[in-house]
Amino acid sequence: MSSKSSDAKGAKGALRTPSDLPESTRKKIAEELNRIVADSFALYVKTKNFHWHMSGPHFRDYHLLLDEQGDQIFASIDPLAERVRKLGLPTLRSLDHIAKLKRLAENDADFVSPSDMLAELIEDNKAVAAAMRDAHERCEDMKDSGSASLLEVYIDETERRVWFLFEASRGADPSGH
Ligand SMILES: [Fe+2]
Repeated sequence: MSSKSSDAKGAKGALRTPSDLPESTRKKIAEELNRIVADSFALYVKTKNFHWHMSGPHFRDYHLLLDEQGDQIFASIDPLAERVRKLGLPTLRSLDHIAKLKRLAENDADFVSPSDMLAELIEDNKAVAAAMRDAHERCEDMKDSGSASLLEVYIDETERRVWFLFEASRGADPSGH
């Protein structure tokens, strides 16, 4: 065996955080969590993209809303990635790795109308909430309550983002509501 491959094996062993959960369980959960981390990075970038390129009469409200939502998404990434490390598995290492795992589509359009931005973010956040719910179900089935309880917080936060985006995207009626 070459010294390079034995170094690689030694390094891999060094990252094996001890856990009482079976390895097969931890691998399956880590795979789902890493995809959620990749999706969260993609959602973070899109939310900031729309924050930066917002326009129109509701600019201030939408610009600030998306800034808050971007901060919230970004704050969720580190605990989820660290959860994977607590399970003894590797998490994301690069932008290429994120691109490979993410399921959300990017939006590089030169111009997106404010209503289209909000509608797209509603769908993306709903997709993230659904992925988190699926992962949560698997965590509960496999008795990984640490990951399950973390996901519960972020499912609620994601649904809150959908709520705010939905209400913000509704057209005003003559009463101003
Ligand atoms: Fe900003």
